Amino acid sequence: MALEASFERAILGLELEGASYQVLSCGAGFDSSYFRLKNMGVLGSNCAAYLEADYPQVVKDKVRAILANPVLLGACMMGMDLESYSRNADASSFRAGNYGAVGCDVTRTEELEQRLASIGGLDASLATVVLCECSLTYVTDRAATAFYRWVAARFANARLIVYEQVIIDHAKNK
Ligand SMILES: C[S@@+](CC[C@H](N)C(=O)[O-])C[C@H]1O[C@@H](n2cnc3c(N)ncnc32)[C@H](O)[C@@H]1O
Repeated sequence: MALEASFERAILGLELEGASYQVLSCGAGFDSSYFRLKNMGVLGSNCAAYLEADYPQVVKDKVRAILANPVLLGACMMGMDLESYSRNADASSFRAGNYGAVGCDVTRTEELEQRLASIGGLDASLATVVLCECSLTYVTDRAATAFYRWVAARFANARLIVYEQVIIDHAKNK
């Protein structure tokens, strides 16, 4: 519900604006939003790139699942040759149509930049939706703050959507 009102609404708004935009989902795990939103027609032709990042083993397993499923791979390729996807040797970087995934610790933002660049990268001039859903809760406050600062510095027009568990009594949440 919260993500429908934030993440999906942000994407819908950008689609309605009619200009290209991109999505970066950090700590995406096995989230299937890309496929679901594409199937629903929410994620349309204005989405230049929908890129996900997670630890390498998670991305490898997700890529393996996508490649084993012609429906999922077909959703990425959208009429393109199903074989024209690209992935690196260990399968922790993958690009198929406007969908991509990279394996790395997202708090290591220099490495994240390099990995994203290896699959076509993000265009800093485009409106960008950055999603962190139940992922930054696993990193230190300092690392999360540094990540937010990276988003603010990296993209001129960004919508950062953070959906995390909080400990109400924790000093920073008061
Ligand atoms: C609870 S799952 C949430 C997955 C997805 N966002 C969702 O809501 O379905 C947390 C994910 O964050 C990833 N994660 C946690 N810390 C990370 C980090 N520093 N770099 C990359 N991925 C991270 C984990 O590997 C895991 O896939």
